[in-house]
Amino acid sequence: MRHHVRKAIFPVAGLGTRFLPATKSSPKEMLPLIDKPLVQYVVEEAVASGIEQIIFVTGRTKRSIEDHFDSSPELELHLEEKGKGETLQEVREIADLVEIFYVRQKKALGLGHAILCARDFIGNEPFAVLLGDDIIDGESPCLSQLLDLHTQTGASVLALEEVPHDQISSYGCVEVKNGSMPLQVTDMIEKPSPDEAPSDLAIIGRYVLTPTIFPILEALPPGRGGEIQLTDALRVLKEREPIYGCCFTGTRHDCGDKLGFLKATIDLAMKREEFRPALTTYLSALLANYRSDKSL
Ligand code: G1P
Repeated sequence: MRHHVRKAIFPVAGLGTRFLPATKSSPKEMLPLIDKPLVQYVVEEAVASGIEQIIFVTGRTKRSIEDHFDSSPELELHLEEKGKGETLQEVREIADLVEIFYVRQKKALGLGHAILCARDFIGNEPFAVLLGDDIIDGESPCLSQLLDLHTQTGASVLALEEVPHDQISSYGCVEVKNGSMPLQVTDMIEKPSPDEAPSDLAIIGRYVLTPTIFPILEALPPGRGGEIQLTDALRVLKEREPIYGCCFTGTRHDCGDKLGFLKATIDLAMKREEFRPALTTYLSALLANYRSDKSL
């Protein structure tokens, strides 16, 4: 039976080692992309896709995520007294975005294990998973594109993107059925070496999954890096149910990576009218300077 997808899991217990030292004591999900923490962009994408309830799978040092989505009486009072109505409104809206729940992942046992931590909350219905490193900017929210395909098929759907061959070892990699439409996933492998990779199609951090994944995850031995890997569970799932891939439209920024984060900052700032003219002048002058400096 098909269900409307109401719930989403946000695994946010990761240590953010690619972004040290910034992430030593504060969560990578709270790094600000211009003026909003990364995680807020992803929560907004989920809400815009019709998600009604979110569960954060958190860990130690992640308290500021909870505070961010809570009300903030002192700050609100201060803004009210100063007559900063617009900012006050913005701050209040964050706490009212969506219903949020929290569960702790006590040990860093991987993405598959994080999803298993939210099993009781999800119950027996299809659900979404959104990973906070991937910020996807586009006209239609990426998750809603996956949900459209889920509505059409009733099956699990993975967000896919072609990546340069030498970067495939940073992702879950899929093999798809030639010419199938929608794209049926026939196999997958977590972080293969370029030689092992069956394609250059990478799994990006958006999933719609059926609850069949839970018993599979529960029985799964540790995989790459000694962790319970979601990709390994999907490999078992595909023997029981079809899995489809969604080559979404939109620009994906890997914000868990320093260069990806910088690019996202510039790209999103250029899209904002308030920054574009001054930033264009600044970047042009900067580039001219670097080009004329022969020592670089
Ligand atoms: C995880 C998944 C991987 C996927 C990636 C997308 O890896 O295990 O299959 O391709 O997210 O961002 P991570 O980046 O958490 O190491």
